[in-house]
Amino acid sequence: MSLLTDIDRYIEQLCIPPNVAFEQAIRDAKANGLPEINVSPNEGKLLYLLAKITGARRILEIGTLGGYSTLWLASALPARGKLVTLELEPHHAAVARKNLDRAGLLKKVEIRVGNARLSLRQLKPAFDLVFIDADKEGYPVYLDFALKLTRPGSLILVDNVIRHGRVLDQKPKDAGTRAIRKVNHRLATNPRLETILVPLMRERIDGLAIARRR
Ligand code: SAH
Ligand code: DHB
Ligand code: MG
Repeated sequence: MSLLTDIDRYIEQLCIPPNVAFEQAIRDAKANGLPEINVSPNEGKLLYLLAKITGARRILEIGTLGGYSTLWLASALPARGKLVTLELEPHHAAVARKNLDRAGLLKKVEIRVGNARLSLRQLKPAFDLVFIDADKEGYPVYLDFALKLTRPGSLILVDNVIRHGRVLDQKPKDAGTRAIRKVNHRLATNPRLETILVPLMRERIDGLAIARRR
């Protein structure tokens, strides 16, 4: 085991209380053949805290998978809060629906199945928090929509902004990393935003961008 994994586990054991529904959601996603690309428990807790700290009432998530990050974000909502999550694959959405229902959170969540590029056009502002975590090539378009659908004070969170250091390459071979570099640059230089990229570790290092609308 690497030092990174050991530190991640240390934080998880300290800071993540056991939660049967959350743990079952990860097992269920795997059993149903979904890729194991959900946020880690520690990143989930960070998303939860950011939503809580900002008092988010309306949350938008792009990329549901089996609903693991959705569980964390939805559980940060106040009584009448709402979360809309966008997912391309009907099978992923079905697994997510079951996981959210089991945790008693489905009533706060609306899962919209389809290409996010299309679903996003139907949404009305304003969201207090947007979490971008779908196909990496789509990130620049998703950031455009996030800017349209938020208000001053809203948070825009973007997953996978470090990609094990692949973003350090000025001319990355894969289109996903090129799109992420573009988004990182826009997050950092847009005068309407104040931004930091937070490295997060698991087996390897990835990261979460936290941007606040001025
Ligand atoms: N947020 C999830 C992980 C999302 S993985 C978690 O942490 O638990 C990325 C998801 O985005 C996958 O389920 C994939 O099917 C979905 N996706 C990929 N392209 C998409 C698109 N164009 N529109 C909507 N969802 C998309
Ligand atoms: C991948 C996608 C993710 O959203 C993630 O958090 C990790 C990996 C991937 O497509 O490999
Ligand atoms: Mg991700």
